[in-house]
Amino acid sequence: MDVVILLGAPGSGKGTVAGRLAEIVKGFSTVSSGVLLRAAIKGKTAAGVEAEGYMSRGELVPDALIAEMIDDYLASHSAGEGILALDGFPRTVPQAEMLDVILKKHGVKLCRAILLDVAEKVLLFRLSGRRICPKCGAGYHLSTIPPKKEGICDLCGTALTVRADDNPETIANRLKVYQAQTAPLIDWYQSAGVLLTVHGGREAAEIADEIVVAIRTRLF
Ligand code: AP5
Repeated sequence: MDVVILLGAPGSGKGTVAGRLAEIVKGFSTVSSGVLLRAAIKGKTAAGVEAEGYMSRGELVPDALIAEMIDDYLASHSAGEGILALDGFPRTVPQAEMLDVILKKHGVKLCRAILLDVAEKVLLFRLSGRRICPKCGAGYHLSTIPPKKEGICDLCGTALTVRADDNPETIANRLKVYQAQTAPLIDWYQSAGVLLTVHGGREAAEIADEIVVAIRTRLF
């Protein structure tokens, strides 16, 4: 198993691109720290109860809390061949250090950190128009990736909703937090020689195609 990190600001398309990659690359899977945390909140686990306030304010949850969730995930998903994309983890330099320890523990190799580089006005446009399916987790956008039937999930027919942290105030804080705490990882992974910067303001399919080429040249 090899690991790729998907880095990028809120709304840069990490989840969308990971979904496309899973459709076109055999053995490709993804785990999103945000999805793990939202599931923990829904399930009212101790981690979920602790995380909820941070997430509703658009702040990062404590490093150790999310690192433990990723460690647990890898404990049951690191066997065998394939590529696992980490969407949204690490998000701070201490998390990157924790990830090194976790990967070593599970015998997994980091092959790329892929930065989706997107202008702030595009991020705001994407986040304000995002709709999600509360049942199956599929993601849409009111104008760029609309469902076939307005307001209804293509995959399971459930009514689409707005994510709790996609309100203007929380979005503004998430973007601020990204610049302060996550953007330093760009230099971190550049220095490690694994950073690939991709122009993320294009069509999702085009972005995914570029990443596939990069992953293949590095891995095979
Ligand atoms: P998380 O769920 O990870 O949210 P995020 O990083 O803010 O990223 P998003 O999910 O908002 O955006 P995305 O880049 O996946 O974009 P998407 O593909 O959906 O984290 C939420 C919270 O959890 C954090 O604020 C924090 O509190 C906590 N958390 C998570 N991880 C943590 C960690 N490691 N440490 C501490 N705390 C953590 O796309 C967005 C929209 O744009 C969609 O509508 C989509 O349809 C559209 N779109 C996407 N790509 C394209 C494209 N190419 N063209 C047109 N439209 C597009």
